[in-house]
Amino acid sequence: MTTLLRNFWYMAIPGKQLKRGQMIHKRMLGDPIVIGRRTDGQVFAMRDICPHRGIPLSYGWIEGDGVCCCYHGWKFKTTDGRCSEIPALTEDNGLDINRIQVAVYPSLEVQGNIWVYIPNDPKEKLDLTQLPSPPIIPDLGNAVPNLSETIHFNCNIDHAVISLIDPAHGPYVHRSWWWRSGPPQLRTKEKNYEPVPFGFRLVPYQMPVSAKPYKLLGNQVSIEIIVQLPSLRTELLKGERYKACAFTAITPINENECELHQSLYWTVPGLGLFKPILGYLARQFLGQDRDIVVKQQEGLAYDPSLMLIDDADTQAKWYFRLKQEYLRSQAEDRPFENPIEARVLRWRS
Ligand code: FES
Ligand SMILES: [Fe+2]
Repeated sequence: MTTLLRNFWYMAIPGKQLKRGQMIHKRMLGDPIVIGRRTDGQVFAMRDICPHRGIPLSYGWIEGDGVCCCYHGWKFKTTDGRCSEIPALTEDNGLDINRIQVAVYPSLEVQGNIWVYIPNDPKEKLDLTQLPSPPIIPDLGNAVPNLSETIHFNCNIDHAVISLIDPAHGPYVHRSWWWRSGPPQLRTKEKNYEPVPFGFRLVPYQMPVSAKPYKLLGNQVSIEIIVQLPSLRTELLKGERYKACAFTAITPINENECELHQSLYWTVPGLGLFKPILGYLARQFLGQDRDIVVKQQEGLAYDPSLMLIDDADTQAKWYFRLKQEYLRSQAEDRPFENPIEARVLRWRS
């Protein structure tokens, strides 16, 4: 099940990392892609290869509504990828430059993040109005992340996703001297799950009032965790007074590497003052996930057979079932049918 899922929106980068007039090269699901922001603020994504002699367009520059190649100055429109200028041509040259085209990927900036739609065939003409919208976090309106972290994983996306939704590694992996030191202390957990479009969710429930950091949001705090294909996890905390959300999107670079983007949103006034420390904690937490995967790769190099147990690994099993059903529905050209049924999961962590 290492297949990468196409025909989905994937997060490319946090919007604030792309200034007006800037372009960056990204590899997404193996495709070379240039992501850019025009001076009018509009973002775009296109194949990062000049059709003339193959140099990445990201070495060039943005001019109005086009991207100019750094090698011979050919210009391509960011909207449809058509060539609009070849400086070396004389006026009487009959070449129809409009027929020269670079593949354009649908791209959108939503809630402060830049998303790129990766189709089965990048050459296919896609109508943005016919596509589903990129993932939108409910109840957050036009909020932008208060904090963003991106971390590189040297593993296939499946291992990154099942680590992200794994409820049992916390007491072993996420430890530090100021938090969870000493022998792991496990408690039995029992939680309700149900299907949602392209995934499943932890049915929202009220947190025990003893959970101190959550008190910032008010006295009654509910938690909901939504997991959806291709690789999204949304943790929503809603208190009487304020809300917070940890949104994670993993994007494959290729079959063996991926990037995890985490966006933290909150409405708690004054919490912004603690950004340096919150950023440090988020990086430390995600770094622990990355380090364990680095170690895991040493064993996976021998291609061992692996196990998924009930109920601690049931969510991982669901992820693989969702993925399998998605691939089948695409191959059979039929709507996706969610294979997950509502149930209670019990585990110790
Ligand atoms: S290689 Fe791009 S213009 Fe020649
Ligand atoms: Fe983790």
